[in-house]
Amino acid sequence: MDDGKDDDEKLNDQGSGFSRRDFLKVGGISLSVPLVIGSRTIRIGGEDVKVYGPGKVPISLNINAKRYAAEVEPRVTLLDTLRNELELTGSKRVCDRASCGACTVIVDGKAAYSCTMLAIEAQNKKITTVEGLMDGEKLHPLQQAFIDNDGQQCGFCTPGFVVACKAFLDKNPHPKAEDLKTGLGGNLCRCGTYVGVRAAVMQVSQAASLRYSEREGGHSNG
Ligand code: FES
Ligand code: FES
Repeated sequence: MDDGKDDDEKLNDQGSGFSRRDFLKVGGISLSVPLVIGSRTIRIGGEDVKVYGPGKVPISLNINAKRYAAEVEPRVTLLDTLRNELELTGSKRVCDRASCGACTVIVDGKAAYSCTMLAIEAQNKKITTVEGLMDGEKLHPLQQAFIDNDGQQCGFCTPGFVVACKAFLDKNPHPKAEDLKTGLGGNLCRCGTYVGVRAAVMQVSQAASLRYSEREGGHSNG
């Protein structure tokens, strides 16, 4: 029986509380809002919610102990910001979906996939990229150990692997060989350099132990 109501009214009667017409009205409003820089407040479910974008918003990032400013859309990842806005191209984009580790950076002391973190989220965090490991012109010991142990072939996974190894060693300065497999399990190497990578980590760990032992006058547990 025709109750004289159109589809939208029927939808409302079914308890959705939000008809297609309402949606179109809201959509019409949002389409008429120009792309804004910064944030704006909208009301959702009776609450004021701050939203960013869809245009570019200014952000500030702490990378390798240096402050960087950029303007990016809120949907842009940290990886794309590093590579495309800040000319920090050491972190590589390979899978772009948190599988391979080529984009690994250290965020607040933990290894993180920069391809799956939004740049806007990374504000107020301490970020280390592979560019931050060298001491002037001097390679970081891990970078040198990768060379010494043939820890790379094509090299595409290498920057992410070096950064992951750094985060791992910072937390586990004296790992056992069996810890390495799981500890570095977030990074893949299609060239199969895993043996060299693990040897590099052990080299740095053992050198650190040796330095500690020498400093302590030759008393070591190892
Ligand atoms: S590019 Fe980020 S995990 Fe592969
Ligand atoms: S060295 Fe080629 S992917 Fe690892």
